[in-house]
Amino acid sequence: MPVPASSRRARLIQASPIRKLNPLADAAKKSGIRVYHLNIGQPDIPTPADYWEAMKCRIPEVLAYGPSQGIPELREAICRYYDRLGTAITSDQVMITTGGSEAVIFAMMAVCDEGDEVICFEPFYTNYNGFATMAGITLVPVRSRVEDGFHLPSDDEIESGFTKRTKAVLVCNPNNPTGTVLEAGELERLAKLVERHNLFLLADEVYRDFTFDARRHASVLDLANIPEQVIVMDSISKRFSSCGARLGNIISRNTEVMEGILKFGQARLCPPTMAQYGAAYLYDKLDESYFRKVSDTYQSRRDVLVEELEGVEGVFFLKPEGAFYATIRIPVKDADDFAAWMLTGFNVDGRTTMVAPAAGFYATPGLGLDEVRIAYVLKEEDMRTSLDILKKGLAVYPGRKA
Ligand SMILES: Cc1ncc(COP(=O)(O)O)c(C=O)c1O
Repeated sequence: MPVPASSRRARLIQASPIRKLNPLADAAKKSGIRVYHLNIGQPDIPTPADYWEAMKCRIPEVLAYGPSQGIPELREAICRYYDRLGTAITSDQVMITTGGSEAVIFAMMAVCDEGDEVICFEPFYTNYNGFATMAGITLVPVRSRVEDGFHLPSDDEIESGFTKRTKAVLVCNPNNPTGTVLEAGELERLAKLVERHNLFLLADEVYRDFTFDARRHASVLDLANIPEQVIVMDSISKRFSSCGARLGNIISRNTEVMEGILKFGQARLCPPTMAQYGAAYLYDKLDESYFRKVSDTYQSRRDVLVEELEGVEGVFFLKPEGAFYATIRIPVKDADDFAAWMLTGFNVDGRTTMVAPAAGFYATPGLGLDEVRIAYVLKEEDMRTSLDILKKGLAVYPGRKA
């Protein structure tokens, strides 16, 4: 019997470049090697205990569906969180989603028809590719460079990506995979561009609480001139170190966009109910001092990364400014091969380090081949050990550039 073919979409969607080396890591572990994971953004900061306590108080007789836009307690708590930051939003401008991932998919689908284009700055969070394929839209990459600390390119370079099909510009701030924090001036530049070209500005702000060296995060929500063109996509995965809760949100002051997004939400019924009680409690309970502490922890790890890798021959990067990532240039021709070799052909006393090759974060073929992304999500001591192993590996890797 002939078997029907799967869809073009299902065949074309990319496999996660962050996870693709996992089988090699599994095999290394099976053979007794300890693998330090600098490849994935899974924070090791404990989920605040209050999260569990808040849920325990709400155990229902029936775990029922909740409202499609999320429970009012959580939407209101998010408004209070923004209020403390000096940004006024109302709960009808907030929609709770199943993770930041769903927030990005919903936002893309709410502003684009199939075949429309979204400008994004490469390297970018690789899962945007998958979301764009699901939504049937095209991501048009505009390059940012390691030499500029991956800050925004010139207006001319950005505008060179615009076509008749362009509907939005997408930024991730602070950025995954580069750790770049956009300055208020850069956002204002983008605001002028999207205003002039009548586009949406989508901002993924899931790392907004983690900025270093006394930097203050500038949100697109504070761009006064384009309130109805701005959509923020957010998540509690990193904010409260609770990736498994699967909760995120979308914020927009555009009523039409929010009405559309609500209908997407109704189709998938509701986000996880219990997790929302825990999240609502944390939004109110955890103040600036909690975020400062967590951010300082990441900053110390960033400092370890800089101490260990700055000045290493052939390695180049500018000091990351936020989130918990760095994209660094290394002296190899093919970082994919290097990352695989670290898992299959190299170890120091039975230990090795896993990094994410950066090419998967670029849309333009050939870019990022000599770069890797490092997620500094391990304790300082493990960071030092894993980076030391990385340096030793780089020194003897057979594919090292002369
Ligand atoms: C930039 C960025 N956006 C969105 C997400 C998705 O977050 P969530 O776990 O809430 O789906 C991630 C996860 O790593 C991310 O790094």
